[in-house]
Amino acid sequence: MIGASLSRWTLSYFAAALLALIGAELLMVTGFGFPGAEIQSPKTLVLVHLVALGWLSLLMCGALFQFVPVLIARPLYSNSLPLPALVLLVGGIAALLSAFLQLDGEMALGLPFFPTAGALLGAGFGLVLWNVGRTLWAARPLPLPARFVAVGLSSLAATVGLGIVFALALSGVGSQPIYDLTALGLPIHVIAGLGGWLTFTAIGVSYRLLSMFMLAPEADKPTTRIAFYAGAGGLALTVIGGIAAICAGSNLDVILIASGALGLAMATLYGADMVHLYRARKRRNIELNSRMAAFALTSLAAGTAFVIVAIVLGDLTERIGPIVFLLAFGWLSGLGLAKLYKIAAFLTWLECYGPVLGKHPTPRVQDLVVETRARKYFYLYFLAVWAGTAALTVGVTPAFRGAAALMAFATIGIVLELLRTRRLADVPSETRFPEGTRQPRLLICLQTP
Ligand code: HEM
Repeated sequence: MIGASLSRWTLSYFAAALLALIGAELLMVTGFGFPGAEIQSPKTLVLVHLVALGWLSLLMCGALFQFVPVLIARPLYSNSLPLPALVLLVGGIAALLSAFLQLDGEMALGLPFFPTAGALLGAGFGLVLWNVGRTLWAARPLPLPARFVAVGLSSLAATVGLGIVFALALSGVGSQPIYDLTALGLPIHVIAGLGGWLTFTAIGVSYRLLSMFMLAPEADKPTTRIAFYAGAGGLALTVIGGIAAICAGSNLDVILIASGALGLAMATLYGADMVHLYRARKRRNIELNSRMAAFALTSLAAGTAFVIVAIVLGDLTERIGPIVFLLAFGWLSGLGLAKLYKIAAFLTWLECYGPVLGKHPTPRVQDLVVETRARKYFYLYFLAVWAGTAALTVGVTPAFRGAAALMAFATIGIVLELLRTRRLADVPSETRFPEGTRQPRLLICLQTP
């Protein structure tokens, strides 16, 4: 990755994303949304979208601007589009959350929040898709991890498209097909969003990042290819088959069962690949980010097992709350925080010391972090997520709120560590700024080595 250009606005995406995560955790501490409110209530919709869009999607977009060029060894199509996209996305998320609050009667303003949210989010994600899509298009034929990202981006388009349809229907604008899609299309929106956009893209990026950070073999095994085809097939079946079935007035169940089986096959093969990758690594003493990624992968495995058990016991609908919580916070957020810890250090190191490498002695990337201090926050975070999942499973709401408080505390601790890394606060002052270097800005990467 040395020599890779720096994505100027990636850190601004990460900052907005972390604020949304802390905001969502604090809302859970106060008892806002599920489990205190119904799972389909507007308050839960606020919480779900603050996490899915505000935290996870902004994090993913910021990471893709930096890592898609690394995956395909080509520059990003445009370095100026990420800023307007961020402004549109933040405005769109604020409008969508306001629309849900309006639905709940919490916001008396008569503004057209749903159509505004649809327009802003459509434009913001449209810019992201155009930028990353053009970057990938120029690099065909794509290596396997980048193909996962391409499928993830197609799922994002489907999620946003359906979200806009729902928003129009809820604001009373629309025709019969729009109301049919809104009445029956929620599973497609959720699977394309959580399974396609967030999980499939994270899987593609993790194949490359984990092998890079642990010095393990690249992902081009037959199991990886089968995992790709199973996952992509399951997602295509859900989105294309599902929408066709709704339009034709037929039942969605068969399609969802078939795509669920493909998703399960994909998760199992990905799990096997990850076990192989950890075992085949050349770096024996792995860094904190890779150890914590293993906790996130364990959460994915536990979430998958939870789904199977719930299906066997016939209570998937009642268990959907704890399952989605474990996958959103243990798997996706856990992996996100673990990788952020490494990425923040790496980008800061590259920005500050990249231009003088070979000319002056510089600190190592690991000199920017103090893992012994940060690891207690990561342990606390994962323990709190697992405790929260248990509390939701047995239905003890006060214990869930306690677990959310611990998650918020741990997340704030991790964010403070990220800030110290960005400020180079843990690099001894004598070696911090060799000649030709200067303090990086907090939220923008300015140099392109
Ligand atoms: C990563 C992206 C997204 C994910 C993972 C996601 C996830 C979800 C989930 C889980 C629900 C059901 C929540 C519940 O029942 O409590 C939902 C509903 C909904 N989503 Fe999204 N969403 C995403 C993006 C969007 C976007 C971009 C929009 C709008 C432009 C949107 C608009 C809606 C609406 C209006 C509903 C309510 C549907 C109804 O109750 O009829 N979503 N979403």
